[in-house]
Amino acid sequence: MAILVCGGAGYVGSHCLKELERNGVECIVLDNLSRGHREAVGTTPLLLGDLGDEAFLEEVFSSHTFEGVMHFAASSLVGESVQKPLDYYENNLGCTMNLLKAMHRHGVSSIVFSSSAAVYGEPEIAPIPEDSPCSPTNPYGETKLAMERLMHWCEKAYGIRYISLRYFNAAGADLQGFLGEDHNPETHLIPLVLQAALGLREAVTVFGQDYPTPDGSCIRDYIHVQDLAQAHWLALKRLLEGGESGIFNLGSQHGMSVLEIVETAKQVTGVDFPVKAGPRRPGDPAVLIASSEKAKKELGWNPCYSDPQTILATAWRWHQAHPQGYQTKK
Ligand SMILES: NC(=O)c1ccc[n+]([C@@H]2O[C@H](COP(=O)([O-])OP(=O)(O)OC[C@H]3O[C@@H](n4cnc5c(N)ncnc54)[C@H](O)[C@@H]3O)[C@@H](O)[C@H]2O)c1
Repeated sequence: MAILVCGGAGYVGSHCLKELERNGVECIVLDNLSRGHREAVGTTPLLLGDLGDEAFLEEVFSSHTFEGVMHFAASSLVGESVQKPLDYYENNLGCTMNLLKAMHRHGVSSIVFSSSAAVYGEPEIAPIPEDSPCSPTNPYGETKLAMERLMHWCEKAYGIRYISLRYFNAAGADLQGFLGEDHNPETHLIPLVLQAALGLREAVTVFGQDYPTPDGSCIRDYIHVQDLAQAHWLALKRLLEGGESGIFNLGSQHGMSVLEIVETAKQVTGVDFPVKAGPRRPGDPAVLIASSEKAKKELGWNPCYSDPQTILATAWRWHQAHPQGYQTKK
């Protein structure tokens, strides 16, 4: 019996994979390496293929016995999703449909799913609890919400239980320094800031200086990827022990403004890199902070690495050791 980790060669998936294996869980990764890295999978078996390929999925499920699935695989660039909504629906919703169909055919009844704060859209309250209205403002968030709804109906019809984890801003790197964040293109603030500190970027652009926040820049909730990994392990355990489906926010409950991240990065790296002012980006809410009380109460989640210093120090260590990212680009 093993766990199928779809998207396990990516940033969050590879950290969760390591956590599952640390807890003695046998894992098999499925990834098409469109955005992931072979190196991040280490010695875990990797099934190289695409969730869009139903024949491949049938072969995977026929030749292994899975106790459950972790589903990280998705396209997740908000701007790109606005340009290419069909691609996003196909890769996110279409592939998840294929995965659920294969699970149903082969009697696999537990799935832990990577959802996102993007399902909330532009909420008026902070911190945001899970029962806040969902009103995504882009196709990426829409697909995440659609996948949650699909899993809801698949539970009713086929008994596939699910835990959907709505992450806020995943950040930081493996505490041992083996894994880190290497997206291409990179759109996340912390790697961009650290690339500027390494001299790989001319400057960091702060989009919007006039938000209704204390320093005028946007406030986000950064959650260390190791804390996300712990939550995935707890969610999987709950499902494998016969526990109920559920939807949980995963955030630190503390907002950090873009300028605060920049300042902390300057302190941690000791580099005074250049910072530029840019215009607001459409659809960027002023403040996004999670209420994560439900995950703490129901899953027993205990995030302990999500202070800005630890996030930036672990990420900096990885970026210094891997200035060009992973060596294997596929
Ligand atoms: N990183 C964040 O801050 C964040 C925040 C909220 C939600 N999420 C969600 O968490 C998940 C993981 O995010 P990440 O940052 O690790 O992304 P990532 O791009 O690093 O990882 C995704 C992995 O899935 C693989 N993949 C994509 N489509 C595939 C397909 N059709 N078949 C097989 N493999 C495929 C990619 O090759 C990659 O290895 C995504 O679903 C994302 O939407 C991420």
